[in-house]
Formats: sequence, C-alpha cells, structure tokens
Amino acid sequence: MSSTLGSSIGKKLLMSLSGLFLIMFLLVHLTVNSFLLIPDGGEFFNAGAHFMATTPAIRVIEPLLAIGFLVHILYGVKLTLENRKARGSARYASGKKTTGVTWASQNMLVLGITVGAFLVLHIAHFWVKMKLTGDPLLEHTAISIGGVETEVENAYALVNHTFSYLWIVIVYVVAAVGLAIHLSHGFWSAFQTIGFSNQIWRKRLTVLGNLFAILIGFGFSIIPILQYLFYQG
Ligand code: HEM
Repeated sequence: MSSTLGSSIGKKLLMSLSGLFLIMFLLVHLTVNSFLLIPDGGEFFNAGAHFMATTPAIRVIEPLLAIGFLVHILYGVKLTLENRKARGSARYASGKKTTGVTWASQNMLVLGITVGAFLVLHIAHFWVKMKLTGDPLLEHTAISIGGVETEVENAYALVNHTFSYLWIVIVYVVAAVGLAIHLSHGFWSAFQTIGFSNQIWRKRLTVLGNLFAILIGFGFSIIPILQYLFYQG
C-alpha cells in the first residue's frame, strides 16, 4: 500500500483525490461567500457563517481540509520536481510547444504557489481572527434565526472592513484568476487520473472544468470588487 502511494501514479492519485476534495470545498465556500452580495447589511452572511461555525459535521471537516491542502501542496511540489528531473534537458531541447499542452498544464506549480501564498494572507485576515485572536470588528450582532433573535459574531463587519483596502481587493482578484487557470487544467486532469474519463468524457470534462474555473474565478473576484465599490460606509 505504502509503495503504491509512493509510486508516481500513487502520488498523482493522491493529488487528484485531494484536488477533488478541495474543489468541493471551493463550491461550498463560494456559496456561503455569495451571501455577501445580498444588500442586507450582512445579516444573511452572518447567519451562514454562524451555521458553518456551529454545525458539528462541518467542524469535523476543517482538519480534513487542512490535511487536504497539505497533501495537495506537498505532493504537487514533489511530483513537479521529479518530473523535471526525469525529463532533464529534454525539457529545453525543442523550442516548439507540444500541441494539446496548455499554458495552465505547464505552470501548475507556479499557479499553485500563487494560490498558496494568497491562502497564508487569507487565513491571517479571517480564520486567525475568527478562531484564535478575536477582533473588535467581530463583536456580537443580533440576527433573526427562525424568528428567534440570536447573538452571533459579526463576520460581515470583518470581511467588509478588509475589502475597504484596494490592495487587498487586487490581491484577491489576482489569486482568483490564478486559481481559475489552475482549475482549468486541474479539474479534468483529476477525473482523468482516477480513471473517470474516455474520449467522449474527456471533451465534456474539459468544458465542465472550464465552466467551473470561470465560475470560481469570477465569483471570488466579483465579491471583493463589489464590496469595495458599493458596500462601504
Ligand atoms: C471572496 C473571497 C473570499 C472570502 C470573502 C472568504 C471568506 C472567508 C472567511 C470569512 C473565512 C473564515 C471562516 C471561519 O473561520 O469560520 C475563510 C476561511 C477560509 N477560506 Fe476563504 N474567502 C474567500 C476566498 C477564498 C479562496 C479563493 C480560497 C481558496 C483558495 C479560500 C480558502 C479558505 C480556507 C482554506 C479557509 C479556512 C477554512 C475555513 O474556515 O473554512 N477562501 N474564508
């Protein structure tokens, strides 16, 4: 078993499975964050954040998510370095690009590192403040849950304040575009590795992957942009 996971195909399988898990996380995360677009002073978003923070089944997923990211990053770096070593100078032997090889597929590591660097900043902005250090902006606010007035953390105030800085909005947009390009290759490639692909499905998964990448890139960009432009003050 351990030798299977240590083999090149084993590593690719782990990359794909962790990638698919992260894809599911991104869908859920974007759905909750899309509540930030509702012009209700953050009530719906705060209710969503409260639900995510207090539902035991979701709390269990958090450490799994950290493991998913770690596996994906570590094996991504390892596989890329091993592939480069195996190819040696052949990588530079021809100036011509192989057809069917996209820019995204050749730059998965650098795109992944861009998203990883963003994540460090992102976790410091939100997760650390909400889970570890606290922040005056988070001080409690009341929302109505099923008609009952409930005291919850004001996650909206923290997000809204964070997106009042133009440089932060720019960083988020760059990361969202990098993530989208990463996914435009990673999505169908993950399905291909787990064996869920053939000639017909390869085409369908490429289209689906591109649509998913556009949704993620657009969604995670438009939220900070609109927060900065229309939701301040
Ligand atoms: C519009 C952009 C985004 C907003 C407003 C946003 C908001 C948030 C907030 C408020 C938290 C803290 C949640 C909590 O601890 O209860 C969080 C956590 C997190 N975000 Fe984001 N996020 C955005 C984009 C992203 C992107 C693009 C990624 C992945 C590449 C990402 C990955 C994470 C991760 C891994 C966590 C920690 C796990 C968790 O708490 O669920 N986020 N985000």
